Amino acid sequence: MNFKHFIYMSIAILILSCQQNPANINSSKTIDAQVQELLAKMTLEEKIGQMNQYSGFMDFTGPEPDKGQAATKLDHIKKGLVGSMLNVHGVENVKAVQKIAVEESRLGIPLIFGFDVIHGYKTVSPIPLAEAASWDLKAIQRSAEVAAEEASAAGINWTFAPMVDICRDARWGRVMEGAGEDPFLGSEIAKARIQGFQGDDLSAVNTVAATAKHFAAYGFAEAGREYNTVDIGTSTLYNVVFPPFRASLDAEVKTVMNAFNVVNGIPSTGDKFLLRDILKEKWDFQGFVVSDWDSVGEMVAHGLAKNGREAAKSGVIAGSDMDMESYHYVEQLVSLVKDGEVDEALITDAARRILKVKFELGLFEDPYKYCSIEREKETIYNPKFKKDVLDMAKKSIVLLKNENNTLPLKSSGQNIAVIGALADDKTSPLGSWRIAADDGTAVSVLEGLNAYTKNNYSYSKGADVVTGKKQFTQELTINNTDKSGFPEAIATAKSAGVVIMVLGEHGLQSGEGRSRTRLDLPGVQQDLLEQVYKVNPNIVLVLQNGRPLAIPWADEHIPAIVEAWHLGSESGNAIAEILYGDYNPSGKLPMTFPRHVGQVPIYYNHKSTGRPKLPSPGEVFWSHYTDEKHTPLYPFGFGLSYTTFDFEELTIDNSYTENKTVSVSVRVTNTGQKSGKVTTQLYLQDEFASVTRPVRELKAFEQVELNTGESRVLSFQLQDKQLGFYNNDGEFLIEEGSFQVYVGEDSQAQLSSSFEL
Ligand code: BGC
Repeated sequence: MNFKHFIYMSIAILILSCQQNPANINSSKTIDAQVQELLAKMTLEEKIGQMNQYSGFMDFTGPEPDKGQAATKLDHIKKGLVGSMLNVHGVENVKAVQKIAVEESRLGIPLIFGFDVIHGYKTVSPIPLAEAASWDLKAIQRSAEVAAEEASAAGINWTFAPMVDICRDARWGRVMEGAGEDPFLGSEIAKARIQGFQGDDLSAVNTVAATAKHFAAYGFAEAGREYNTVDIGTSTLYNVVFPPFRASLDAEVKTVMNAFNVVNGIPSTGDKFLLRDILKEKWDFQGFVVSDWDSVGEMVAHGLAKNGREAAKSGVIAGSDMDMESYHYVEQLVSLVKDGEVDEALITDAARRILKVKFELGLFEDPYKYCSIEREKETIYNPKFKKDVLDMAKKSIVLLKNENNTLPLKSSGQNIAVIGALADDKTSPLGSWRIAADDGTAVSVLEGLNAYTKNNYSYSKGADVVTGKKQFTQELTINNTDKSGFPEAIATAKSAGVVIMVLGEHGLQSGEGRSRTRLDLPGVQQDLLEQVYKVNPNIVLVLQNGRPLAIPWADEHIPAIVEAWHLGSESGNAIAEILYGDYNPSGKLPMTFPRHVGQVPIYYNHKSTGRPKLPSPGEVFWSHYTDEKHTPLYPFGFGLSYTTFDFEELTIDNSYTENKTVSVSVRVTNTGQKSGKVTTQLYLQDEFASVTRPVRELKAFEQVELNTGESRVLSFQLQDKQLGFYNNDGEFLIEEGSFQVYVGEDSQAQLSSSFEL
């Protein structure tokens, strides 16, 4: 190579490395050292810029943005005043915005692109509450992997999921987005989802950073009303709310989102105890905290901060590292630091955390790594994902009732009426939070049934569920009252052998901002059900909903009830396979179903009252309701199968003194006529403790497939983590005393034994 060539080559390498490594950092160093090197080059303004996140509602690749804010946002990106964008997706859009950050800002620091990939991107999985009903951690992990693969192909490198908020109140609309009421199940599912999103290599092109949200106690909003105040005791905070977040850290979640709500008087966003003392110090969280949408700004409405300046100050001091869409960080922090009100070290620490995640994602090596048009084309709606989301959907279905083996249905020679607007709906099964998926892309129940068997189906809508069809409008939350379709539905049902009624909530009647005061079938559907029942009681009720429903009448009268939630893209196919018995239902409720909304909050792991039982007939002074039973309609962990299982030989080997382990084993046998999957659940009751403990708590579970007549001995190890609890000062204690163990198929399991610590 002659000298001229050498010079050309060197220039070429320099240009290439500047493109690949925008901030020009020595990539042979450790990530921490690279972050430090970069921080040393940054101005205060640029560090604050990393803490600023905007939503991209403008069309980056199209005409000039028309909203004033959009121009400001673009200008801020150029000035290095933005660290992240949310709601910019699709390779073309992401690439266009990234290009501005990388090529036009002083240091060329790449943006991180966040999006709510909650249960799928374009190919949609069941809503998270439904997935939780599978209790199948591998399938849940796979579902998150699919979401990550598809979303990352559209330029996204960060999802705002999983939501790990425990919730005991089905009135809250976002109950659909979590794993239900139990901290143990919730923790296991949180880990599976994070592993699925982040994989083993965060820098791989098909993985995305995850977010454990909303820290903390968002699911405990008073009266189930969205964004409402939370008043919660330390014991519940530590033993119920915190565990899934702690587990998320064990799974190395990269980011945590704070919550909109006030917890014990302080908005989470400005709560130093939650974000700094617990999360960052006690739990040593190394990632960054993103605020919820304008939750920094909302501290003014909460009455904590007088204005945006005070709100920014509270947020940053508390430990909220990135400000989603309130503008207060970018507008206020420079002067707050210059006036000595905020220590610059806090800013540097926040920027350090954010930059670290960007390095870990590989964005400094190649800011456009998620931006391949070819990969996007071949990945989005790739048919290979169908198998996974169908598998997840089947596993999420819960059989609630099956009198006289009404199900499975015979696959031929039957005359079947299908009734209910949801049966013919190709959008509602996509549920809430599938903001990138296209309308009409789910398989409806009718399509699923028709594709599946040769039976003769006659369909009648009966009544709409909601008043409108336009996405993301209030119409979709408003119950329909029109009964004009009843006569046709009744006539259709009358002449059929079996009636499949598909009733419940529209997909957008649950989710954020969709709290309800009632838990019945919305609109006129209960009436429709009763009128059809009068002419043909041979009904299979298929429920589609995003929260536990109170359906005591159906439970009393309808022979078969299938909880099918909002199951995503493959909904109708999954339901057909269950109804015809090609998949034996194995789902188990992750939340208690009440008899009446007035029982809410109702949950299995409650404390005992001083008067838990009726002392003598006619007595009134005990803990009960005078107008309704206080027990659930369907308990936590409940779900039937087309076969039956038996549990026996419960044995306890207590070697706690020697090796801090109590081993519990049990024999489970398939006693029915069909092979099936059983979820064996182990519950523990610490009978007497210095702070009272729940009547029982889930501590372990295992799923096994058993053929007819087959039996298996399962064993579970209980160690300090399962045996201890947090007291009211947040200290973890293992106390001596007696423990009851219950093993079986749901939270009311009767097979029990005990041991002493
Ligand atoms: C929700 C978050 C979500 C954010 C961004 C908020 O309204 O509470 O969970 O990630 O919007 O879309």
